[in-house]
Amino acid sequence: MPAVVVSNGGDVPHFEGKITFYVILCVIIAAFGGFLFGYDIGISGGVTSMDDFLKAFFPEVYERKQHVQEDNYCKYDDEFLQLFTSSLYIAALIASFAASRVCTVLGRKPTMQIASIFFIIGVALQAGGTNILMLVFGRIILGFGVGFANQAVPLFLSELAPAKMRGALNICFQLFITFGILMAGIINYFTSNVHPHGWRISLGLAGVPALFLLLGSLSICETPTSLIAQGKNEEGKAILVKIRGTDNVQPEYESIVAACEAARLVKDPFKKLMKPSSRPPLVIAILLQIFQQFTGINAIMFYAPVLFQTVGFGSNAALLSTVITGLVNVVSTGVSIYAVDRAGRKVLLLESCVQMFITQVVIGAILLIDLKPTGALNGKEAWVVVILVCVYVMAFAWSWGPLGWLIPSEIFPLETRTAGYAFAVSSNMLCTFLIAQAFLSMLCHMKAGIFFFFAGWILVMGLFALLFIPETKGIPIDSMFEIWKQHWFWKRFMTEDEDEDDKVHQ
Ligand code: BGC
Repeated sequence: MPAVVVSNGGDVPHFEGKITFYVILCVIIAAFGGFLFGYDIGISGGVTSMDDFLKAFFPEVYERKQHVQEDNYCKYDDEFLQLFTSSLYIAALIASFAASRVCTVLGRKPTMQIASIFFIIGVALQAGGTNILMLVFGRIILGFGVGFANQAVPLFLSELAPAKMRGALNICFQLFITFGILMAGIINYFTSNVHPHGWRISLGLAGVPALFLLLGSLSICETPTSLIAQGKNEEGKAILVKIRGTDNVQPEYESIVAACEAARLVKDPFKKLMKPSSRPPLVIAILLQIFQQFTGINAIMFYAPVLFQTVGFGSNAALLSTVITGLVNVVSTGVSIYAVDRAGRKVLLLESCVQMFITQVVIGAILLIDLKPTGALNGKEAWVVVILVCVYVMAFAWSWGPLGWLIPSEIFPLETRTAGYAFAVSSNMLCTFLIAQAFLSMLCHMKAGIFFFFAGWILVMGLFALLFIPETKGIPIDSMFEIWKQHWFWKRFMTEDEDEDDKVHQ
């Protein structure tokens, strides 16, 4: 493999261009799609631990919570309560396949605009909710928004970025997810003291970024790749001049045209994805997302307030601890932006597995030994749990969090990129749904064992990263084929016969 000294996944290393103010503006506006995703993740845990909300929609859970003799691990276990959180992700899963089509046919920008309209309608239904159906329906519409935004935003960011800054700009999506989660934590902290409608404020405030995304998206451009793929070559070239801040865009323009022409030869990207030669990126993209969720991160992100109450904090202290973990999440994502193109992806993935494994096992051990079904941890121990959770979140935030979105965006060839990415997004949503739906029941049945369960997964994903994920730092996207060909395992899928077979079918 020739030594290519470019940042993550640059298509062609030598194109002229700089980061213009317009690109920064577009990145910030688009990344609000990530903010909304993060806000949804962060808001539900706090809302479902608010008494006013429980009294209005889940009176049995509220009653159970009042009885101190009730099992610590089970007081929040309620299928409907979990459905409130999880329904969003099943909707997002379905929507991501539709979004992949819209993204190809209409473009990235309209897909983001559709997402923001879904967000606005969903928020209105939730904040104004008077019964459980309205709430769940609102969440489903929000889920459509997440499906559309998560498909379009990372692709938009990658296509807009100059090649050598693709990694850093792509991780802005994750950075905004973490901002969203943090903001939700802060808002919940204040609204939990606003009775009886604080939860409506929490849910309703998502309307502000949604409106910002809708209005802001009027001023951003479509990506040159998307325009050229739709046959609007002149417009695509003009946008390229604008975003690169130079007239000398001919080489990049020609390479996009060539990539689009090659992609056009593939009539059915989903069929192409089923071919053996697509197996390495497809398997890695799907497994990365599954593993990302089975780190157990969303047990923390959704249910941190519930979890912290379980170990003995009062509801305000529990919400405050959520703000602390949220801050750690944001700052550590910044570390990843810095390290990803220097240390590489694999080091981050492996180091974090060690860190997450140790913290999960220690949390599990503390709870196993000291948290009985009734009573609470002592104050010191409860704080040790908060610190361990922070160390765990830190590891996730500079590794499996951003890389779960980045690596799938850089390992597919152009002809299967949007289709392959839809599989990545939907796998993420499916597993997010499973964790959101099952976590509180698992906590109730497995008690402290839930932490050992996630630790087991972390061991498996560490081994997978070690053996099956090749380093993609500094490798141009169009050279990925070479990586698979040289990999001890994946090379078996890269036979010449397979390529010939593809061409015959095209
Ligand atoms: C994951 C989310 C998670 C978030 C935490 C994202 O990459 O997809 O499920 O809640 O990171 O920051």
